[in-house]
Amino acid sequence: MTRRFARPSFAAVARKEDSSRERFWAVFFLAVAAGVASLPAHSSTSIDRGRALADDYMKGNCFACHSAPGDGKIVTKANIAPPLARMRERFPDRELLLRQIWDPTVRNPDTVMPPFGKHRILSEEEIELIIDYLYTL
Ligand code: HEC
Repeated sequence: MTRRFARPSFAAVARKEDSSRERFWAVFFLAVAAGVASLPAHSSTSIDRGRALADDYMKGNCFACHSAPGDGKIVTKANIAPPLARMRERFPDRELLLRQIWDPTVRNPDTVMPPFGKHRILSEEEIELIIDYLYTL
């Protein structure tokens, strides 16, 4: 009795699977590499990052106390503290603004504003990002 269909040997099937698996990974890595290469150097601007940090209740939580009348994206009814408005005009010295956020108790020992830098709630870099954002208000 003759066999009507020649069956490929096991080895041949395995070889075929190997090469298609290789092709899959080659295409996969190329796709990932192309994706990484096309990412912008900064996926969000320092202003967006600063806003997110200021708004985050685990980070700045600034809008629990302050309003930001110049930013329509911020939803708050806070009126515990002065509105964060015209910041560049009112705080032309960036260093003084940094100090106010780093440790407001220096200016007012009785303030309810947390000493964000001194208590390591925010890093200096995070405060700088928040200031970039505040200067847009
Ligand atoms: C728990 C409430 C609270 C939080 C949270 C808070 N602040 Fe304040 N902040 C105050 C109060 C109250 C004052 C008023 C000055 C004082 O008490 O000495 C103030 C004052 C300020 C001032 C000076 C304002 C001015 O017009 O003179 C700045 C700037 C400021 N806060 C920025 C921030 C930023 C930025 C954040 C978030 C990282 C923040 N604050 C979070 C309560 C808060």
